[in-house]
Order: sequence, then structure tokens, then C-alpha cells
Amino acid sequence: MEQMTEKQAPILELRHVCKTFRTDDGREVRAVRDASLSVYPGECVALVGESGCGKSTIARMITRLINPTSGEIILCGRDTSKMEGRALLDLYRDIQMVFQDPYSVFSPRMSVGTFLGEGLVHHGIMTRAQATEEAKNLLQLVELPPELMDRMPHQLSGGQLQRIVVARAVSIRPKVLLLDEATSALDVSVQKLVLELLSRLRKELNLTYVFIGHDLAVVRTIADRIAVMYAGMIMEELRSEDLAEAQHPYTRRLLQSVFSVHDRTNRKIIQVEDMSVAANASGAEGCPFHSRCPQAARECENTCPPLRELGPDHRAACLALSYAVPNDPVPPVT
Ligand SMILES: Nc1ncnc2c1ncn2[C@@H]1O[C@H](COP(=O)(O)OP(=O)(O)OP(=O)(O)O)[C@@H](O)[C@H]1O
Ligand code: SF4
Ligand SMILES: [Mg+2]
Repeated sequence: MEQMTEKQAPILELRHVCKTFRTDDGREVRAVRDASLSVYPGECVALVGESGCGKSTIARMITRLINPTSGEIILCGRDTSKMEGRALLDLYRDIQMVFQDPYSVFSPRMSVGTFLGEGLVHHGIMTRAQATEEAKNLLQLVELPPELMDRMPHQLSGGQLQRIVVARAVSIRPKVLLLDEATSALDVSVQKLVLELLSRLRKELNLTYVFIGHDLAVVRTIADRIAVMYAGMIMEELRSEDLAEAQHPYTRRLLQSVFSVHDRTNRKIIQVEDMSVAANASGAEGCPFHSRCPQAARECENTCPPLRELGPDHRAACLALSYAVPNDPVPPVT
């Protein structure tokens, strides 16, 4: 993957993307603040962070469900914000999304076979009859038996439904699959199987993933690189295998404060602590983490740290790190 990142152009690029919402009572919420991120062909990049940090807002902007307040999102070399009509339809051929709740995309009165063929028909790739035949192949692709073709959603388990949603998403052979908490609602054992399926499909179908989650243990099993978000900002970006070398106080706090438990396979797993975020309310200009950061200095209250390079495939946004000699150890977070 390292070679890939050096040689190829990004398939998806966020350039200084911001999104500010105005709430009903007139407050402004900076849901995403100056997010820049490159995703290269064939890799899986995870967005991780606690609830409300802006992960889904990024997903919704990438898929043009909402527009950025400012900044650019470039998919396959084209600015998605400028797409209209035919170009927008093409965007949905290039990028598909899978959400946490499969019921939200499944029509309760549609059989599995019809649902699976829908995208192929909608994009004019196949006739209805051809799509119905292809649906059987799609079931096989996600390791489900052909007998499910005529079943209705309520006759299926959550794991089966999510496999079917994934099958439909990949049916039109998109370039990028955006998975927003796609495995979060599944039981641990089912989740593991779906993650294995996703990893296999990525290789077999030459897909690129943006994988959104709140659980570092899950995210690190599938992602090549991880972007850690806090209050709308990407705080640190690094390779999954380098997670233990994280430098940003927030990432380190996540790693330290997570509790260790053992799953059924006796493998140590970690979870992100669950905290609500109020730090992305508009107004405060400094580092959004400063009120919780053990390393915060006075300047952190007024100066928002830029994301800067720490090393190969490693960036972080922290004023304390800006003054550190590269590779100098950062004082431990207490
Ligand atoms: N339409 C909206 N109007 C106002 N505020 C919004 C809107 N959509 C999202 N927000 C706010 O933007 C922030 C980011 O929300 P977002 O859904 O992107 O978070 P998230 O990281 O996906 O959280 P979760 O893990 O709970 O899914 C939150 O403070 C949220 O309340
Ligand atoms: S910029 Fe300051 S407050 Fe923010 S993470 Fe770094 S040291 Fe902490
Ligand atoms: Mg979300």
C-alpha cells in the first residue's frame, strides 16, 4: 500500500472541506472543519471518532447528499460539487454507500432478488430479466444461498440483510465503497464474518473503501490507514499498523483510556471511549480538544493547529507537536 500511495494519484480527495450547519435555534455547528484527506486506489481508509465528530457529515458530502460549505471533494479527478444531471448519475456509479441499518435502504415489500437487481436496472447496465439472473451470482458473491432470492426483508437476519446490501452496492462495480458504521449493529461474531467478506471483496473487485466507525478495534482490522476525528477536525492520520506510534494527545488518550477486554477468541480488543462532543460549536477558535487536553498551553485556546507531516503517511494537528523535534518522544499523556 505504501508503494501505491507514492505512485498513484488519489481516487478521492478532500481539500480543505468545511461544513457548518445552522440549527433551528440559530446556533452554528461546525460539523467538519478544514478536512483534507487523500484516498488512493485499492486502499481502505477509516474515519474514526466518537459520536458527533463529523464522520457521517463527511460521508454525506462525498456522496453529494449535502454540499460542503467550502472546500473541494475530488473523485476520479473531478470536483463533485460541480456535478449535475448525467455527471451526478455517473457519480453514483463510481461511489456507493452502505449504512448501519440495512432496513433503511430495503423496501419492506421488495424481494431479495428484485432488490439486488435494482441498481443494475436503474443504471441501465442490464434489463430486469438479466438483473434477476445476475442477482443469483451476487448472492453467491456474498456467500448466501440462492434460496434467498424470493425472501422478504423481515425473513432475514441482520447479517444476511447487510450482506445483501453490500452485494447490491457492488453490483454496479463502483470504484469506491463508503461504509458508514456498516458493521456496527452486528453481533461480534457476525461482524467478524462481514469484515472478512468486505476484505475479500475489496481485493476481488478492486474496490477502494472509506470505512467509518467508532471502534478502533474493528477499524484497525480492515483499514490500511486511519484518520482520527475530533469535533469536526482530522486530528491525526496514520497507518493502522502504526497506531501504537500515534502522537496526537487525543489519539493517545483514546488508546490509553480504552478499556481492554477479551472477546470470545480471547483476543485483546479495544474500544473508543464514548463521550459527547460539544467542542464543535461555533465560536471558539482554538484547538477543539484544549479543554480536555493534558498538554494544552495558553495558545491552544486561541490557535487552531494545522495538520502537518510527522513522517511517511503520518500527519497530526497539534501545536505541541509543531515545536517538537521530529521523532522526539512526546511527553506521555497522563
Ligand atoms: N442537519 C444538521 N443540522 C444541524 N446539525 C447537524 C446536522 N447534521 C449533523 N449535525 C451535527 O453535526 C455534528 C456532526 O454530526 P455527524 O452525524 O457527522 O457525526 P458522526 O461522527 O457521524 O456521529 P455518529 O458516530 O453518532 O454517527 C454533530 O454535532 C451533529 O449534531
Ligand atoms: S494543540 Fe494544544 S490542546 Fe490541542 S491537542 Fe495539541 S497540545 Fe492539546
Ligand atoms: Mg454517523
